[in-house]
Amino acid sequence: MKLLFINGVNLNMTGRREKGVYGTQTLEEINADIAARLKGTECEFFQSNCEGEICTKLHAADCDGIILNAGAFTHYSYAIRDAIASIDIPVVEVHMSNVFRREEFRKTSVLSEVCAGTIAGFGKNSYILAAESFLLK
Ligand code: DQA
Repeated sequence: MKLLFINGVNLNMTGRREKGVYGTQTLEEINADIAARLKGTECEFFQSNCEGEICTKLHAADCDGIILNAGAFTHYSYAIRDAIASIDIPVVEVHMSNVFRREEFRKTSVLSEVCAGTIAGFGKNSYILAAESFLLK
């Protein structure tokens, strides 16, 4: 089982930005915790602040499942939506914060319709819960 974790715009600032919302661990620390937790599962981690790079990564993906936290791209990127729709690998949408308890604009995801499911609100465990959805199969 190979899983690809994609983090989008501003997620590289995790641990340094809005610590009350996203916690104090860096993305590298979170990724290390995920890999340790998912021992036996091949995990690849990718982060980009560029919408097109995320589309290119999705197009080239060669794995059993994708866990995607697109950050703010979630709320408006039709390009990433179409990239997800253009591949056959299932994608689970993830958010560390509970986007439904925050600002109005965060309640809209243009990605959900083409994703297998969504997990939000459990901090770094949102990634692990999303990964478990593939491992349970
Ligand atoms: C986020 C929620 C988004 O609304 C926000 O733009 C992010 C992170 C989350 O993980 O909770 O950058 O995807």
